[in-house]
Amino acid sequence: MFTKDTGLRSVQREALLIEDPDVKEFGGRVLKEEYDGRYFRVTDNTARSSKSDAGIEKRTINEIIGKSRKWDFILDPYAGFGISAYIFSKNSERVVAVERDWETYSLLKENLMGIKNVECVNDDNTAYLQKCIEDGVKPPNLIDLDPFGGPEAQFLLTLEWMKDGAILCTNGQIEGVYRNSIGIKHLYPWVDKYAGHKATKWAEKVYIPRLRGLAKEKGRELRLVHSYAHPRSLRFIFELGAFEFGKETKDELSKRPRFLDWFQRVEQPGFSFE
Ligand SMILES: C[S@@+](CC[C@H](N)C(=O)[O-])C[C@H]1O[C@@H](n2cnc3c(N)ncnc32)[C@H](O)[C@@H]1O
Repeated sequence: MFTKDTGLRSVQREALLIEDPDVKEFGGRVLKEEYDGRYFRVTDNTARSSKSDAGIEKRTINEIIGKSRKWDFILDPYAGFGISAYIFSKNSERVVAVERDWETYSLLKENLMGIKNVECVNDDNTAYLQKCIEDGVKPPNLIDLDPFGGPEAQFLLTLEWMKDGAILCTNGQIEGVYRNSIGIKHLYPWVDKYAGHKATKWAEKVYIPRLRGLAKEKGRELRLVHSYAHPRSLRFIFELGAFEFGKETKDELSKRPRFLDWFQRVEQPGFSFE
């Protein structure tokens, strides 16, 4: 199915970026990106969420999820420049935004300055998750695992820590599957059969069962509530254990597109992520 509702075209997206004339740091590569009437300082890397339709859809979905209830604690362990953490801060008592890269972290901290319920941490997220588990910290109600590649180690740590809650999860390995790139074959040696538009089948037949298998290993039940696929990233919304999204939220999610960019234009016969 071809849906047009996938955000802005790239020309319009670039028009939202304003180079900061006063910028001296990071070689003058800092740009300003507008979101929700605020300016976020970003560099031109793929952590900038307006970079693709998938990033723009992520913001819309995060807005829907964020406002679905009053959350106690949201963990954003791949915080990037902080747009998702900002969205989550509107409806959560507390948000922790973890970012490993120093340059990105510096901008994250600045972008979220003055938002009192957000705490920024410059650390590797596996180290952060491990420490929280060891220290017996109360788990979050929502975690957003949003890497460039795959978050399996972080997913396992999340399942060790959280019993009930929402898990939002991105996977960027689909780009390697879609392009049949050599880099993905050490993980999935037989992956050739999912090249091109069949990459969405890889999500259905391989990746979701893999996440479910990890959950089962940890004795947790995972339910997929929504997903969408872009040639460069997959995004999944899961309920974990006793946690459930309300009907209104599920209805709202069900109206969002499931396929973005090139995937919209190819037939998806009988495709389902379930
Ligand atoms: C896709 S971007 C995140 C975008 C952000 N979630 C948003 O929606 O605005 C991924 C970010 O995670 C950071 N990152 C990657 N691996 C990490 C790790 N192990 N620990 C902490 N941060 C990590 C990267 O530096 C990058 O800024």
